[in-house]
Amino acid sequence: MRAIVQTTKLQAEGALAKGANSVNNEANGARMRPPIIRLEGLTKIYTEGEVSRTVLDELNREFYEGEFVCLLGKSGSGKSTLLNLISGIDAPTRGDVVVYTDTRPVRLTALGEQERTLFRRRHIGIVFQFFNLIPTLTVHENVTLPLELNGWAQHRAQMRAHALLERVGLGDRLKTFPDKLSGGEQQRVAIARALAHDPLLILADEPTGNLDEDTGEKVLSLLLELTRDAGKTLFMATHAPEVARRADRVLHLDHGKLVSDQVWRRLHEEEA
Ligand SMILES: Nc1ncnc2c1ncn2[C@@H]1O[C@H](COP(=O)(O)OP(=O)(O)O)[C@@H](O)[C@H]1O
Ligand SMILES: [Mg+2]
Repeated sequence: MRAIVQTTKLQAEGALAKGANSVNNEANGARMRPPIIRLEGLTKIYTEGEVSRTVLDELNREFYEGEFVCLLGKSGSGKSTLLNLISGIDAPTRGDVVVYTDTRPVRLTALGEQERTLFRRRHIGIVFQFFNLIPTLTVHENVTLPLELNGWAQHRAQMRAHALLERVGLGDRLKTFPDKLSGGEQQRVAIARALAHDPLLILADEPTGNLDEDTGEKVLSLLLELTRDAGKTLFMATHAPEVARRADRVLHLDHGKLVSDQVWRRLHEEEA
């Protein structure tokens, strides 16, 4: 898995350097897997009164199975907007997101809002900055809920949720309500919830942004360990550059464009 990820990373950056929009899957004669996500001319423009602002400007990019992609960019650069388009929470102004599920590629703009919700429920796990646990449900119920929404039988859902909560070190807090937990503990519950239904893709939007440095580091390590163990693709938005050191690919959002770490550094060195 690591070797494939590294090869893919190099090919992706190589293709970018040549100005290509997508990666040659058969470079070096090695037939690669198709991507998990493809952004196709993805554009988001917000209009307020007379003023329109292009937040994402014609993004073309592919992401592969098992990658940890770190998305950097200052506050307001469009990181959450991009994650919301990939998860189908929001719809683009132009362009599309294609998600390659086990059975078929799904074009998100071809889905209605309700279909997008079902799609997200099945294929995506999300970790938010502010945890977003349901306050009226216990820790165990918070993790069981997405499974039951996916049609799992109650007992099986409860067993799976319990096992995951053990895995994140909260097996003894099943009946606790979220407001009795620390921020780090709440985020560990949220990680268990995001992984429970074995999603294709984990999206994390500044998952350590509301935690102190030490707790944030522990939560990040746990999230990385669990997604890697499960062979999942992790797409993390952050404005913490130190997270980037641990990523397979680092991308920067800058003035609506997605640039790779290498290209971004070169541009900024030229400016300096
Ligand atoms: N619903 C909205 N309507 C208008 N502008 C929005 C909306 N959501 C986000 N924006 C604007 O889009 C830009 C990108 O926001 P966001 O994706 O939240 O950035 P980030 O997550 O990188 O901080 C910001 O300028 C923000 O004000
Ligand atoms: Mg954001």
